Amino acid sequence: RAFLYRLWKGNVSSKMLNPRLQKAMKDYLTANKHGVRFRGKREAGLSRAQLLCQLRSRARVRTLDGTEAPFSALGWRRLVPAVPLSQLHPRGLRSCAVVMSAGAILNSSLGEEIDSHDAVLRFNSAPTRGYEKDVGNKTTVRIINSQILTNPSHHFVDSSLYKDVILVAWDPAPYSANLNLWYKKPDYNLFTPYIQHRQRNPNQPFYILHPKFIWQLWDIIQENTKEKIQPNPPSSGFIGILIMMSMCREVHVYEYIPSVRQTELCHYHELYYDAACTLGAYHPLLYEKLLVQRLNTGTQGDLHRKGKVVLPGFQAVHC
Ligand code: C5P
Repeated sequence: RAFLYRLWKGNVSSKMLNPRLQKAMKDYLTANKHGVRFRGKREAGLSRAQLLCQLRSRARVRTLDGTEAPFSALGWRRLVPAVPLSQLHPRGLRSCAVVMSAGAILNSSLGEEIDSHDAVLRFNSAPTRGYEKDVGNKTTVRIINSQILTNPSHHFVDSSLYKDVILVAWDPAPYSANLNLWYKKPDYNLFTPYIQHRQRNPNQPFYILHPKFIWQLWDIIQENTKEKIQPNPPSSGFIGILIMMSMCREVHVYEYIPSVRQTELCHYHELYYDAACTLGAYHPLLYEKLLVQRLNTGTQGDLHRKGKVVLPGFQAVHC
């Protein structure tokens, strides 16, 4: 519990994590499997307003548009949706919800509040059926990692989870964001299932995030953190928060910073326990959360009881 109180105040470091998680973080730093070379400088003292302006100017959402090699020569300009993600709601949505998949959302009764937003973002294979009372049933956007597209157990082609929603997929690319290298050696080959899905469902908005956007987010997290963060992409949760900040005037994030219901149950829909899901091992999740905690404009009561953070969308940020 002491750790949770300190997390709410933004006053934690990786040294307070259990030894197993600390070891995992250290091993990822040594491995540096994506070839990260941080060239920025660390500036941990920015104010909330300064941070928001930095995010607004540098964390612009970017998806593959088929104009760069190797995708240009492969006909991707005609394969990707004609309307870019940023233009789907050109006048912006008013209020949006980002629903994390954390076990702590169980017994929250947040479903009704979540569904009252204009748009709702969910992640990977997180279901709503059977969990409506706690997570709601509206889904507008779903962010999926490349394993969802490639692992047959997720039934990407025929599961209703991936129908009638805006899909945004991503895969860890090299830090250099060299698209030729990435295309030849993705973490999981999302390109083939993406092409098939686009051909079979040309009217469904379905995008792949540009590696430059993902690593830009990583740079911003590292610049604003005193410690050396894991040299791996930010979690889907952080990516999703930034996508909604660019599409909505106000963003309500549920169970990213854990509420009093904090638990080691990884996902609300799965009987699997691991503290790494909430605090991070591969992803720099603890540092993402500390950054989001600094941006919160919601009340302490909502943070503690609902695990809710309220953030302004970029249209509402004046720099
Ligand atoms: O596990 P998955 O990536 O599908 O979960 C979606 C996002 O929810 C994660 O990327 C992470 O940001 C957040 N999450 C969390 N705590 C958990 C589980 C997920 O913060 N226990």
